[in-house]
Amino acid sequence: MGNIFDLKDFSTSKIKSILDMAQFFCDGGITPTFSKKVACNLFFEPSTRTQYSFQVAQEKLGMKTITFSPFSSSLKKNESFYDTVKTFDSFGTDLLVIRHSKNEYYKALDEKISTPIINGGDGTGNHPTQSLLDLLTIQQEFGQLEDLSVVIVGDIAHSRVAHTNFDIMNRVGMHVYTSGPIEYSDSSMNFIPFSQILPECDVVMMLRMQYERHFQHHEFNPVEYNQKYGINHKSIAQMKSAAIIMHPGPVNRSVEILDDFVECKQSRIFKQINNGIFVRMAAIKYVLSGGIDDSFN
Ligand code: CP
Repeated sequence: MGNIFDLKDFSTSKIKSILDMAQFFCDGGITPTFSKKVACNLFFEPSTRTQYSFQVAQEKLGMKTITFSPFSSSLKKNESFYDTVKTFDSFGTDLLVIRHSKNEYYKALDEKISTPIINGGDGTGNHPTQSLLDLLTIQQEFGQLEDLSVVIVGDIAHSRVAHTNFDIMNRVGMHVYTSGPIEYSDSSMNFIPFSQILPECDVVMMLRMQYERHFQHHEFNPVEYNQKYGINHKSIAQMKSAAIIMHPGPVNRSVEILDDFVECKQSRIFKQINNGIFVRMAAIKYVLSGGIDDSFN
């Protein structure tokens, strides 16, 4: 049994094995059944895609699922995060999927919680299964990851998707750039003006503004933002003909991407969501089976 907290804990060959397993499930390969197992999805922050795609993945694997509601739980009686997780651990459940606003919340749980944990997102830190589904989507499109160029655009500083993807995409041999408003940049993450890098990229990954993580208020005009840093008629014409548009969601239509282009032929946004099911099935199999079996190596 293991945990998935941070993709930095995984070698690239192990990550590629998880992607192979996800592709196997995507191709209709026989799914294992964990029919006696109970999964608890503990989302202390809002989520649509991650929370419910984990639930779909668990049900496809034959598991029972419990969806925790922070608003009707004993958190309202001042119970701590740790005691809440320890309570679910004490129920003898088989898997915990946790999202929390605190970066590296899992460090307070490691070694104290015996139930395997998959990180569904920690603050501005990590979103491992989002990065896995992003890699799967890119691999399906181009048949490879190595030597492809990607620009991640938007609120880089506050995005766990940007942080996880910047690391893992570099490690698998992609050329990774970040772009968007300078006030939301991270100088350690290969920042470059959008109009300069856009025509060079195979993958254009848009991010939303993470208002809930902003301590400082900056004036924000959605129309101006889209003109400078978004997908619109002008910027889409500057993309390579085979380039694809990605977004982890939720999308603020007509801010990051003009409404007309959210479902355009270059968009893989809903494909990403679909791949989330297979990646999460693979991640669950990984933690419940104690690794990858030989058929996926
Ligand atoms: N991509 C993502 O994490 O979306 P949700 O917040 O809806 O889970």
